[in-house]
Amino acid sequence: MADRWQTSRELLDRARQSLCGGVSSPFRASFPVPLYFEDGNGARLLDVDSNEYIDYTLAWGPNILGYRHPKVAEAVSRQAMSVHTYGAQHRLEPEVAEKFQAAVPCAERVAFTSSGSEAVQLVFRLARAYTNRKYILKFEGHYHGWMDSVFLSYRAPADKFGPVDAPTVALGSRGQVENSAGNVIAAPWNDLAFLERLFAERGHEIAGVITEPVLCNSGCILPEPGFLAGLRALTRKHGTLLIFDEVITGFRISLGGAQAHFGVTPDLATFGKAIAAGMPLSAVAGRKDIMEEMYKGVAFGGTFNGNPMSLAAANAALDVLSANDGTILKEANALGSQLMEKISAHGKAAGVPLYVCGFGTAFALHFTPVTGMKHYRDTWADDKEKLTRYIKGMLEEGVYLLPDGRVYTSCAHTEREIQETATAAQKVLASLA
Ligand SMILES: Cc1ncc(COP(=O)(O)O)c(C=O)c1O
Repeated sequence: MADRWQTSRELLDRARQSLCGGVSSPFRASFPVPLYFEDGNGARLLDVDSNEYIDYTLAWGPNILGYRHPKVAEAVSRQAMSVHTYGAQHRLEPEVAEKFQAAVPCAERVAFTSSGSEAVQLVFRLARAYTNRKYILKFEGHYHGWMDSVFLSYRAPADKFGPVDAPTVALGSRGQVENSAGNVIAAPWNDLAFLERLFAERGHEIAGVITEPVLCNSGCILPEPGFLAGLRALTRKHGTLLIFDEVITGFRISLGGAQAHFGVTPDLATFGKAIAAGMPLSAVAGRKDIMEEMYKGVAFGGTFNGNPMSLAAANAALDVLSANDGTILKEANALGSQLMEKISAHGKAAGVPLYVCGFGTAFALHFTPVTGMKHYRDTWADDKEKLTRYIKGMLEEGVYLLPDGRVYTSCAHTEREIQETATAAQKVLASLA
């Protein structure tokens, strides 16, 4: 049988001779078939073997408006004919920051950085400086970038996590400074009773609690009703800052992020991925009194911070996303929810143990008998082999998915794409039964 991915495989073999591992991020090596792409438009991608796919990776999230959105393309092209970076001030900075302020509840002040990982480092430093405390509390399975200070209790082997009622902090990488674990406390998510006990004992030592408001990086698990509000009250009571990592939820679950969606305002928040609709940009938003610590001796830098290319894209993206009271995102989330329901129904009809959770534009498939997931440890029973078979089956049907079962939809996905995808899922799920 002809290999429909022959050119991709040849390019990967070639790349391995120069580019370490043949890919630009080891996370990308986990795709069952690492593809090379030639082009994309709307919700579709074209690979180098001329295969077309409906895409649900969106480059791991950023392409919230789909590929080559005309307004973003036009803004970036215009800027490309001018200066690409100044390392100094220009008009787009306040223009985009003001739009951010208008959209995001906690954004009394905004700072622009380049990647989500960097933005997280800045909020940690601000939180520690502001409170004069050492510890950051993070939740198991939550991802906040790959830096030593926080690549902890994420995808480490299960035996490194300790018992659920007394979790240990698990290092995530060889070569990681071991004592980074000594500045962090790990906790199971969605468990307020656990946190109340912990804060009664150690609240006075905890500078900040960081959480993905929806656990997108470990299976798109939703916060239980009242959990985020409870976390808000608990952190306020103990003088600890609440930090939402909205790198995925920002400009996705709603224009104002998860904080607007769930009605819980954190002290600080990080944004990235979708905010510039495909260009590299991240941001920290937060309370003025905390943010201004960075002009009182809290060091922060970045050569490309606030560069006009990325801000031109963000400016255009914000205009598109905020038009008509953010209708476009509401519609995208509604359509994504329909896809979730269709896939669940097809799984049930096929007799495959399948749990689908998340929200419309970011959800995940878990091949597991477990339902009603609460935290990361609930995903340990997932059948990874079945997931890989599903992803490969869908690829053969012309649907491109992330390797961890996460599904991102964009404002460019239409009913046609959703229906075609549901039909493909029905066929592939039946083959897995
Ligand atoms: C919630 C969250 N925070 C932080 C990051 C790190 O962002 P970046 O990859 O831009 O450094 C990611 C990346 O996937 C993320 O999902």
